[in-house]
Amino acid sequence: MTVVNPHQFFDLSKESPDSLPYLHTVLKDGQLFRYVESERESANTAIERYFAHYFGKEAAVAVSNGTVGLRLALQAAGVKPGDRVLVSAYSFIACAMAIASVGAVPVPMDMSTALSVDTAALTEVDGPIAAVMIVHVQGHAVPIGRVRELCDARDIPLIEDVCQGTGASSPDGRAGQLADIAVTSFQQSKQISSGEGGLVAGSAELVERVYRLSDLGAVRHGGGLPDWDDERAVMADNLRLTELQAALVKDQADALEDTLARQRANRTRLREALGSQVTVLDSEHPAGDSGSHTLFVARTATDAERFCAALKADDVVARVVWKKTYLEYGVFQRSELTSGLPSHCWPKVTVALGRRILSVPVSKYVAESGVARVAEAVLNNRHHLSREW
Ligand SMILES: Cc1ncc(COP(=O)(O)O)c(C=O)c1O
Repeated sequence: MTVVNPHQFFDLSKESPDSLPYLHTVLKDGQLFRYVESERESANTAIERYFAHYFGKEAAVAVSNGTVGLRLALQAAGVKPGDRVLVSAYSFIACAMAIASVGAVPVPMDMSTALSVDTAALTEVDGPIAAVMIVHVQGHAVPIGRVRELCDARDIPLIEDVCQGTGASSPDGRAGQLADIAVTSFQQSKQISSGEGGLVAGSAELVERVYRLSDLGAVRHGGGLPDWDDERAVMADNLRLTELQAALVKDQADALEDTLARQRANRTRLREALGSQVTVLDSEHPAGDSGSHTLFVARTATDAERFCAALKADDVVARVVWKKTYLEYGVFQRSELTSGLPSHCWPKVTVALGRRILSVPVSKYVAESGVARVAEAVLNNRHHLSREW
């Protein structure tokens, strides 16, 4: 039996009905659409309020997934076809795809040290930059105080991709807090999951634009029903979240602090069991990590693959977070988006190091004995791991 399913930090089958009151309410009243026709507050509205507060923003809007959230965030921030957007090179391909989907050009920001971004691109890339997108990885928050300062100096909107970073903080504060727009995902492998789902948080003005772009172009007055008679209405798609998904998110959001505490306790147990025999890849503020994933660096990319295979044989999950940057995939290589990239913009550090970064997830459901098994599997295969990078 697998100790940890990497795609499930929230496992519906392991939750008691009592822990999911909102979901049960929605199932009971059968109102699965965000515009609820009863006295009950829409779960969509409830999670929008929760995450606006959580990210320290004026407002938030739930959308159908994180990629859509990133795309709408870029559009709301005024990014236009042909604009350049700086993006963390160490990230999921969805970020560059979202930038490409609005016709803009992604320009990679390399790592400086592992898990932090090199701000050189913000000072050295010639010409205008329409937005910056920083990505938090596997429950670890990137410190972005310096990025914020540089964006302010050049009046560039800052988007934080918190899809993997819900619950994480760096010395500069909670992931998402310093951004003009924070975007998160509720996809299966995320801290809070409804299978698919996303949310965008920011100023009331930016969020209102995202709302229109996600709900058939309508204007929403005071949280009410969509209005197409308002002269600000635009042409747009339906990218809403269902009420059933929002209810699942709401129940997990209410339990977030408890979930984080349990994950962090497991992370501490794992680290204690590993002792000084292996080196963990830490962020700048390890206590602020959400505890969802413990990271290691393999000696080589081949060692990384062997480590994962060996742990799998012991029924323990480990994976290379991202084997490639978006730039190395054919779909980007064949496009003009990468062919015009100046050689000094190539993210050397990320390309070399990224494929060696390993992630071992330990969810809140794993008991002490399970953590001990994970530790044993890691220790048995520590010859694949590097102590420095
Ligand atoms: C860092 C990151 N950004 C963006 C996304 C896209 O989110 P979604 O799958 O909800 O579209 C994901 C996850 O899938 C992700 O891990």
